[in-house]
Amino acid sequence: MKLKDKTVLITGASSGIGRAFALKAASDGATVILASRSEDKLQEVKSEVEKLGGKGVVVPTDVTNDDSVKNLFLETIKDRRVLDVVFDNAGLGFIGNIQDLTREQIHAMIDVNLIGMIMVAKYAAEVMVRQKYGHIIMTSSLAGLITIPQWSVYVATKWAITGFADSIRPELKQHNVNVTTVHPGAVKTDFFAKDKANLDLDDYGDAVEASEVAQAVYDAVFTDKRKVLVPKMASNYAMLFKFLPGVLQGTLEKQARDFQYTDEPKEDESEFSYVKCLSCKD
Ligand SMILES: NC(=O)c1ccc[n+]([C@@H]2O[C@H](COP(=O)([O-])OP(=O)(O)OC[C@H]3O[C@@H](n4cnc5c(N)ncnc54)[C@H](OP(=O)(O)O)[C@@H]3O)[C@@H](O)[C@H]2O)c1
Repeated sequence: MKLKDKTVLITGASSGIGRAFALKAASDGATVILASRSEDKLQEVKSEVEKLGGKGVVVPTDVTNDDSVKNLFLETIKDRRVLDVVFDNAGLGFIGNIQDLTREQIHAMIDVNLIGMIMVAKYAAEVMVRQKYGHIIMTSSLAGLITIPQWSVYVATKWAITGFADSIRPELKQHNVNVTTVHPGAVKTDFFAKDKANLDLDDYGDAVEASEVAQAVYDAVFTDKRKVLVPKMASNYAMLFKFLPGVLQGTLEKQARDFQYTDEPKEDESEFSYVKCLSCKD
């Protein structure tokens, strides 16, 4: 019951891993600050939180809007509430060969996964350094430790978050504030909804339930763990990538060649469509 009577702020709380962690914290009797853009979904999570014995506070927030993020923290510390844990987790991903990703998809990933997460961590630090106490947990990904063809921009944002968190950890340690990154492999959530990811989750091996990730996050709370990899296979893969990258090269190249969009390929309507192939056989 380590979160009993604690205040836990969660971004991306309306769905998936964020929602699962909100329910986990609620079972301990925590006050859970629920943040994302969809107020209706957050209200549903609040009801679930309160059925489990926690207290839910809904603060609709768009992490790409700095004022919205600041407001989230001001609402959280209202009435002199102590902020114990921030789960900086909101994120999204679009799969595709780099030449096919749209400008909107690229900006969305960078705005939410990188700038949004950094702004949440910044305001968490503003509060926690003053408190001289707290724990910031940031959702990176297994994709923040390895590279994956067709996930290039997503991978870039998650490596950036891994590096960002590793850099602020010593800054904040002296103020009694811990920083942990979470690196899940594939997780069964709306992240893979058809309008977002454009892939078949079955192609990504054994995906785990969001509750498994929530349990791993819970286990890390109030420890000084630097990184949490979940499931176990994620650590094996990360170690292989780090120490024997050549072994994976062939697999990654094959994966890149074999990639197929779930949707029908679109007609090439781009302004570059007249460029001719110089290495095609016919
Ligand atoms: N699923 C996986 O396989 C997997 C693996 C590794 C890492 N991750 C990471 O885990 C985190 C959570 O993803 P998930 O799998 O739980 O996906 P999910 O079910 O799609 O949840 C994503 C959450 O992010 C919120 N969000 C998106 N844009 C936002 C914005 N601009 N402002 C505020 N909130 C926003 C969404 O809420 P609204 O739409 O209501 O705003 C939703 O609550 C992400 O950082 C993701 O990159 C996922």
